[in-house]
Amino acid sequence: MPLSTIVLHGSPRRGGNSDTLAEHFVKGLRDSGDVDVKDFYLNEMEIRPCRGCESCQTSEGNKCVIDDDDMQQIYSVFGDADIVVWANPSYWGYLTGQLKTALDRMEALAMNPEKYFVDKEFVAILTYRYHYESIVSFFERVQDHFRFKFNVITFCSLNEGSHEDLHVSSSQAKLDEAYQLGKKLGSR
Ligand SMILES: Cc1cc2nc3c(=O)[nH]c(=O)nc-3n(C[C@H](O)[C@H](O)[C@H](O)COP(=O)(O)O)c2cc1C
Repeated sequence: MPLSTIVLHGSPRRGGNSDTLAEHFVKGLRDSGDVDVKDFYLNEMEIRPCRGCESCQTSEGNKCVIDDDDMQQIYSVFGDADIVVWANPSYWGYLTGQLKTALDRMEALAMNPEKYFVDKEFVAILTYRYHYESIVSFFERVQDHFRFKFNVITFCSLNEGSHEDLHVSSSQAKLDEAYQLGKKLGSR
């Protein structure tokens, strides 16, 4: 059975820092064995926000009432994923709106941690200029309940001189770190 991996791309910038690190992680995975990778570019998907109706807490199969948007693509593969990559630039110190919207809709999955979270490898790829710690704190806070395994790669894109972003492709060490984590998780 191939190792099933889903990559949630939270950045609207295709080919940006988090995308690039995710690509190198996936390259490491592929180089270590049979892997099935599904990429979700959240900015290009139509995912509507959670309505807060809490129907998923009582509905049959804990289904979300919104059943006709692109979140269905994620619902249909999340349960079988061995690895979930959360590729996310820090926006106001937290998840991007695109990723947070998808996460809120995962409330429907949170009703069944054994199926959707326990023992999965979560890989948070966090790019930032000044801070990412609150994103790590979020994952660590929910880890006790959801019992996923947690891996983090961070990259600071701040160019102190110009205040423009450095691209991660200028840091071979970071690309290698992402690649090596892919190799490690791929050879479990
Ligand atoms: C709307 C917006 C908000 C941001 N907020 C923060 C922030 O609060 N803290 C921080 O360290 N970087 C912040 N950044 C910088 C990005 O996290 C950083 O440029 C990152 O490397 C972009 O990654 P990407 O290329 O994958 O999109 C923000 C960028 C944008 C566009």
